[in-house]
Amino acid sequence: MDLRASIPSRERLIITLDDVPSTLLIPLAARAFGDAIFPTFAAGDAYAAPALRKMDVDVSPFLRDKASVFGVLSRTQVFRQLTSDFFQRYPHAIGANLGCGLTHYFQWLDNHTNHWLDADIAQVMQLRKRLLPAPRKRHLNALVDLSLPGWWQRLGLPERSSEVPVLVMCEGVLMYLEAYEVEHVLQEFGHSAPAGSEMLFDTLSWLAIGCAAMHPSVCHTHAEFKWGSKNLRDFTAPHPRLVLRSEHSVMDGYDVSMALACTCFRALWGVPLYGIVRLSLHD
Ligand SMILES: C[S@@+](CC[C@H](N)C(=O)[O-])C[C@H]1O[C@@H](n2cnc3c(N)ncnc32)[C@H](O)[C@@H]1O
Repeated sequence: MDLRASIPSRERLIITLDDVPSTLLIPLAARAFGDAIFPTFAAGDAYAAPALRKMDVDVSPFLRDKASVFGVLSRTQVFRQLTSDFFQRYPHAIGANLGCGLTHYFQWLDNHTNHWLDADIAQVMQLRKRLLPAPRKRHLNALVDLSLPGWWQRLGLPERSSEVPVLVMCEGVLMYLEAYEVEHVLQEFGHSAPAGSEMLFDTLSWLAIGCAAMHPSVCHTHAEFKWGSKNLRDFTAPHPRLVLRSEHSVMDGYDVSMALACTCFRALWGVPLYGIVRLSLHD
């Protein structure tokens, strides 16, 4: 299926994204067209399909990878639930989606008092500007490169002494960074975030490192998996304030064999094969 077929060519945007940024097309395709495949996990993303239809890209290989389509819809549900729980506790807080790609979580999370920041590297933010509506009111776009320390301050996030907690989320991002870069990201969150803040991210196990060519969707992007957790301590060791608050499975609902594989892997190796982690702070 070539989804470009129905769009007049003059309206399509030729996009040029490097290997890692181009991985944003995988979740975008799932959120745009996956609802019909997995209706009980439907994302109901109002912006994904219109954005994708404007681009001159063929996402049909991603839609053939049903497990990944499911994984994206399922993780979207988990991230939405956890972020929405956070804003129930802190209705005036700030959410920051780092490595946001073309997601638009604020369509679901705006409670009329909270604030939201979407940030990614320059080539993605330029694309975002052309494909998604301009942010309004308590919603901001910003540039961030998580591989460069100092991002907390550069993004203008509240200082540690602030009374406004921050929810940082990184969805489908950290596996593309080097292990030392992930360690610095967690360290920076632990060092800088005000009390009450939380960080959410999805994580692959160390077994995936160097194996992106075997992934039925990521193989089309030439990106590589560089970080995967080997021990639960990997999540909290970077800073003494970090606490592992909860782990959330993503793939269990796909089918019985996947649920079994995930459960057995977690039991045997002590880390999720693929899952979402929620960190909070000691104080
Ligand atoms: C698989 S996409 C996920 C996009 C989005 N979070 C989603 O789930 O649809 C990976 C994203 O990570 C971003 N990314 C990778 N390395 C980054 C870095 N060093 N700093 C900021 N963003 C980065 C990419 O630009 C891309 O948008």
